[in-house]
Amino acid sequence: MSRLVNPKSIHSIDISILKCVDCFSTELSYYNGAIRCMSCQREYNIIDDSIISMLPSRISSVKQNEMRARDNDSLNYDRRRSEDYTSLLDYFCIEKHSGFLSQDTVVLDLGAGTGRSTVKLTKACKIVFAVDFSLESLRILRRKLINAGISNVVLMQADISRLPFYKPDCFDFINCEDFIQHIPSFGERERILSELYCFLKKNGRLAITAYHYSRSKQSVDFIQPDKVGESGKQGFHLNDIYYYNFSLPELYVLLYQQSFRILEYGLFFFELPVWARILRRATRCDRIKLEKSLYRFLKSSANRVYFCASK
Ligand SMILES: C[S@@+](CC[C@H](N)C(=O)[O-])C[C@H]1O[C@@H](n2cnc3c(N)ncnc32)[C@H](O)[C@@H]1O
Ligand SMILES: [Zn+2]
Repeated sequence: MSRLVNPKSIHSIDISILKCVDCFSTELSYYNGAIRCMSCQREYNIIDDSIISMLPSRISSVKQNEMRARDNDSLNYDRRRSEDYTSLLDYFCIEKHSGFLSQDTVVLDLGAGTGRSTVKLTKACKIVFAVDFSLESLRILRRKLINAGISNVVLMQADISRLPFYKPDCFDFINCEDFIQHIPSFGERERILSELYCFLKKNGRLAITAYHYSRSKQSVDFIQPDKVGESGKQGFHLNDIYYYNFSLPELYVLLYQQSFRILEYGLFFFELPVWARILRRATRCDRIKLEKSLYRFLKSSANRVYFCASK
């Protein structure tokens, strides 16, 4: 195949920005089509000639369950999340930042999955590092990139709680679209955000969306405390995927404590394509007013919280 995405991605990215996720050594070298840690001798494969696989040797069973569920669901994922259905998510995570992104911007897209947002980001920036632990989702993303002739993406299979990056200040924009609610402990969520602060360049931007613990979820929780689904403060979806519902102040404090400067925040209900269309067509000034009314209107039922923060 002649149009492989980054067929030599390892040559085209500087491996000095990477570290071994088992022993944290930065002494890595490219050897025999794989990356080898010279300190613990761990080898990281490059799957399908494009996906750098840097998972830690040990992964908790909660995460293994999610990896399995995401792999099994990868073929259906895009079908369930139609363009209309997710347009508000993309509005808050990508479109709102179009003035910030440029052809020099280096982006880290965490929990990229099948790449709904990754593909959109590639058009607005220099390079995107797309990270997910679901190999099958990344394979779907890889196919999309090949079909669209897009080559400015580095695909990485990694655990966001053990990112293989070494150098601080290496990303201009970090997209955390809908994954932080699946990180199974407070300590881990805190550690991830603190590490992201370190990876972000000065004045860089972080966009984050997460499940919101809305009043409607709280009342379901009150009536049916043992319900499996997504209404409890935390729990498991039917496919065994862990989730945590944030309140707006909780995520605010979490970001603030890691020293992020909070630029904007809000609530939204993401299955509202009409709102996405209205916001997209509005002028910049009207957008601000419209976002505020969306926030007021949805305060009790919004199923997502949104933050934009900077370093
Ligand atoms: C709800 S999906 C969002 C996918 C994509 N960002 C979107 O908006 O369509 C969450 C993604 O995060 C990934 N994910 C969750 N926890 C992860 C972890 N610890 N490390 C790497 N990926 C993770 C899942 O595999 C899944 O693809
Ligand atoms: Zn090592």
